[in-house]
Amino acid sequence: MPPPAPLRSSNPPHLTQSRFLLIACHGGAEPALQRRQQRWFPAWQQTAWRRGVVSFRLPDTTLHEPAWRDRAVPAEVADRLVFGQTMVRCLGQVTGSTMTERVTAAVERTAVTSFADVHVWNRDPRLDGDPEAIRDALAQAHGVPAQSTAPGAGSRVLDCIVDTADRWWIGWHQLQEAADHWPGGRYPGHLPPDAVSRAWLKLDEAISRFDLTFTPGQQACEFGASPGGACQRLLAAGLQVIGVDPATIDCRVTDHPQFTHWQKRARDVRLKDLRGCDWLVTDMNIDPTSTMAALERVLATPGRRPQGVIATLKLPDWSRAEALDDWLARFATWGYQTRVRQLATGGREVCLVARLASGR
Ligand SMILES: C[S@@+](CC[C@H](N)C(=O)[O-])C[C@H]1O[C@@H](n2cnc3c(N)ncnc32)[C@H](O)[C@@H]1O
Repeated sequence: MPPPAPLRSSNPPHLTQSRFLLIACHGGAEPALQRRQQRWFPAWQQTAWRRGVVSFRLPDTTLHEPAWRDRAVPAEVADRLVFGQTMVRCLGQVTGSTMTERVTAAVERTAVTSFADVHVWNRDPRLDGDPEAIRDALAQAHGVPAQSTAPGAGSRVLDCIVDTADRWWIGWHQLQEAADHWPGGRYPGHLPPDAVSRAWLKLDEAISRFDLTFTPGQQACEFGASPGGACQRLLAAGLQVIGVDPATIDCRVTDHPQFTHWQKRARDVRLKDLRGCDWLVTDMNIDPTSTMAALERVLATPGRRPQGVIATLKLPDWSRAEALDDWLARFATWGYQTRVRQLATGGREVCLVARLASGR
């Protein structure tokens, strides 16, 4: 699955010449993010590192690359780094003892460039702060409407990361994908009261983040389905759903006429019974190598194969992320195009989405 096409837009030089990149991530994911940076962008220099935020200094050579010259951050950077929730070109830090002082300092950084929206979030969700009040003050200072109408692709967003109550980082990014609309990359969806597990919300985020479209009547099969939140989300999309899990599934799911429970392990499913499967979803609490083996058994077997895959790969420890590129390469040998991210609503795991390349 290739990243979205490059944006065409022009931005004032004082924004594109900023050499600092600030990346928000899950608290604890910083070392995994750093290892991805060292693997893919070794010329970047790490600067500040706090829980939930890592920043890098970009070298001149990067700043002169066409992909970076007129853009906040090229889309493929986020795909390479996997553990970044949002990426911001940083215009600097502002401090001040009052809101007015900090907003005035922010305006000096942005030179009152026009923005379509303002995103404010606390670096660490456990910190105090009032993102809404800050957003209102920054929006007013930059002439951004309190409730923005849907801004188009390429529109600029002013970012404010609240480090501590009296210290903010100011930066900007551009809208391209769904997640670019979420302050801090934090998924704004909510778990419905009748959802049987949080996996409902994880799948909801994956659908939105990767812009997945299902056709009602398609068949989905989930390995690791109990208690059934993700299956509920698939049923809500109008799919016929098979849940594979030795454990029991909540009766709110099993009672659905489009749902079937195969109470067994993934490896005990006969491949011929999966021939009608359009989407393979996996969410098993097992080692990622075992999940990859379960996927390979289905995806590398010739014949009619699922056209889409949504796989959760658990990382029992962060170092297991070292295998990510090998996993992606294996999908490629099976004929699938991939994208992978740590979801905002997920834990220590990644969500890998794959589509069968056309003609395979
Ligand atoms: C995190 S839970 C899944 C949550 C579920 N996706 C939901 O929507 O509620 C992990 C599940 O994987 C199942 N599991 C572990 N190994 C499995 C295997 N080899 N085959 C099928 N399911 C397995 C466990 O029984 C457990 O119910």
